[in-house]
Amino acid sequence: MDRNTSVLVIMGSVRAGRVCPTVAEWIAQLGRARTDFRYEVIDLADWALPMDDEPAIPATGRYAQAHTRAWSDKISSADAVIFVTPQYNWGYPAALKNAIDHLYREWRDKPAVIVTYGGHGGTKCSEQLRQVAGAVKLRLVPTAPALVLPEAVIREGAALDPNRDFSQHVASVQGAIADLVDLLT
Ligand SMILES: Cc1cc2nc3c(=O)[nH]c(=O)nc-3n(C[C@H](O)[C@H](O)[C@H](O)COP(=O)(O)O)c2cc1C
Repeated sequence: MDRNTSVLVIMGSVRAGRVCPTVAEWIAQLGRARTDFRYEVIDLADWALPMDDEPAIPATGRYAQAHTRAWSDKISSADAVIFVTPQYNWGYPAALKNAIDHLYREWRDKPAVIVTYGGHGGTKCSEQLRQVAGAVKLRLVPTAPALVLPEAVIREGAALDPNRDFSQHVASVQGAIADLVDLLT
């Protein structure tokens, strides 16, 4: 596996003022430091995927809308995905569920990592996402990094510095990337 191996880092948050781009880019950087894979950060805000405009269920693969076909092509073209998502009220954001639910077969057997973050690492939303990943038959790696956000970032909007604030989680992220390498080779 080499630079032709493409990994999509899918951001769960589309919220105004989100920290997700900072977290996702940090994950991608750790991946680039460890592997030759190509990491592309995917912002679901750039993918207009309305919730209610596909007449057939995604499992049929019959997509009426050009944006769904484009999303299908994007996921199909990837060798692996890394979800980087915050926890919202113990779950993961609706935008991420919607993006997953737009497709079905495209996820099957694709190696995947779940990275969550939140005041306690987002472990509850990680479990929810793990369950949904099972439904669409993603191949999840065993390691699921759960990054603890500083209180000041959550409550006061302080700037997030992943190298400082997530230093205790580097080994976990590297472990997940090593797991991904195992699945891809
Ligand atoms: C609607 C909402 C619900 C939240 N619920 C939780 C929660 O259940 N657990 C938690 O640890 N943090 C929770 N938070 C705090 C988030 O972890 C924090 O705001 C984080 O920055 C969100 O990620 P984002 O900025 O990338 O959207 C919540 C935030 C929002 C906006």
